[in-house]
Amino acid sequence: MKRTVNTFKKSYDKERKLALLTAYDYGMAKIIDSCDVDGILVGDSLGMVCLGYENTLRVTMEDMIHHIKAVSRGVENALVIGDMPFMSYHISIEDAVRNAGRLVQEAGAEAVKLEGGSDVLSQVKAIVKAQIPVMAHIGLTPQSFNMMGGYKVQGRQLEAANKLIEDAKRLEEAGAFSIVLECIPKDLAEKITDSISIPTIGIGAGPKCDGQILVYNDMLGMYSGLKPKHVKVYSNIGDMMAKAIRDYVNEVRDGDFPTDDQSFKIANDGLNKLY
Ligand code: KIV
Repeated sequence: MKRTVNTFKKSYDKERKLALLTAYDYGMAKIIDSCDVDGILVGDSLGMVCLGYENTLRVTMEDMIHHIKAVSRGVENALVIGDMPFMSYHISIEDAVRNAGRLVQEAGAEAVKLEGGSDVLSQVKAIVKAQIPVMAHIGLTPQSFNMMGGYKVQGRQLEAANKLIEDAKRLEEAGAFSIVLECIPKDLAEKITDSISIPTIGIGAGPKCDGQILVYNDMLGMYSGLKPKHVKVYSNIGDMMAKAIRDYVNEVRDGDFPTDDQSFKIANDGLNKLY
C-alpha cells in the first residue's frame, strides 16, 4: 500500500508505530520497500556508509540527487524522503526552496528532511509553502557536529531539554509533517512526543516516539565505522557477505568455480567445427 504524508498523521493508526529505514541505492531500496516500511530516507549518512567520508559534511546536492534517483526507482510503497545536505539550506531561503525542489523534481523525493530547530523555521515554512512536505530533525544533528564538539547526546540538561521541546513545537507550527529526534534522553523524547501532534521518529530517543528509524547498514552489521549505543544489530550481514566472498575467492583459486552447472554447452557437434 502506498504510504504518503497522511500515513504520518498521528490519527492514522494510533496503535501502529511508524517504521523507517535509510536506503541509498536501487537494490536495497527494493528489498527494504518489500518489508512493509512506512518511509525510506535517503539520508546524508550516505556520505559515511556509502561514500567513505568521515562525516556528512562533504555530501553535495549532486550526491543526494544521484542516490535519491536510484532509490525512487526501487520504491513502490514507502514514502521516499530526501535529506537536504549541509549548506543546501543555510545560505538563503531561496536557495533552500530551490534545493528542496531539486530533490523532488529531479530526483523523485516525495518529502525532504532538514536538520535544525528554531534556526531553520523560515526555511521549513518556505519549503512547505512550495508544497514540499518537510520532515524536521532535532537533537543530535550530525551536520552541526563541529559546533556540538562531536556526536554527543543532546538535551540532558534542563535548559537544552526545554529548548528542544520549544523547537519541536515551533517546527510543527512551521508546517513540518514529522520530526526526527536523534540521541536525546528517552523521557525528553516522550515529553516532546506528548507535546506535539505530528509524529516523532526516534533514533536513539527511546521507545515512546511515534516511530523509529535506523541506518540500514548499522542494523545489518554492514558498517564498521561508528558503533552507536542506540543501534541494534539484527543480523551480521557484513560478516556473512565477507564469508561468501572469501568462499568465492577460494573456489576460484582452487578451480572449484565455475562447474558444469554454471557453464554453457555448444550446440550439437559444434565443438569439432571450431577453428
Ligand atoms: O542521514 C541520516 O541517515 C539521518 C538519519 C540517521 C535520521 O539523518
